[in-house]
Amino acid sequence: MTRVMFVCLGNICRSPMAEIIFKDMVEKAGRSDEFFVASSATSDENVWNGTGAEVYPPAKKILAQHGLSTGGKRAVQLRADDYRKYDLFICMDRYNVRGVNRIFGGDKDGKIRMLMDYTDRPGDVSDPWYSGDFKTAYRDIYEGCEGLLKSIE
Ligand code: 4NP
Repeated sequence: MTRVMFVCLGNICRSPMAEIIFKDMVEKAGRSDEFFVASSATSDENVWNGTGAEVYPPAKKILAQHGLSTGGKRAVQLRADDYRKYDLFICMDRYNVRGVNRIFGGDKDGKIRMLMDYTDRPGDVSDPWYSGDFKTAYRDIYEGCEGLLKSIE
């Protein structure tokens, strides 16, 4: 069982997209029993009194266009005790890597990665919060998830 936590800044755009895309990919590959998949935020920006925001509507929309539902996903913030509960923390960009390291106080077991490092064009996932371009973000995330799944075969 590989436990995968996708991480971005707000957990309302990129990391929920990654969670939902990866879960679907794993299911279609008949490998659901090999994975536990979740997503979270480095910031508490979208969590109020313990209740997280829903996935941002344009992210919901692009997922729906690919036949995927967010299934009631709400934002949660990454917690220090998640470190022992997951095998991989897959970050959407380099700032998330910094944020995750801050929450965990380091990465003693080498569990922190960048999603696009699983593709032939490493770097940051295109950030739709600033660009408004959810199509490019979807493509980046899909490619990253394909590479991630292959890497665990
Ligand atoms: P995400 O996008 O990290 O992909 O969920 C963002 C969501 C919210 C904010 C920034 C990025 N924000 O500043 O509230």
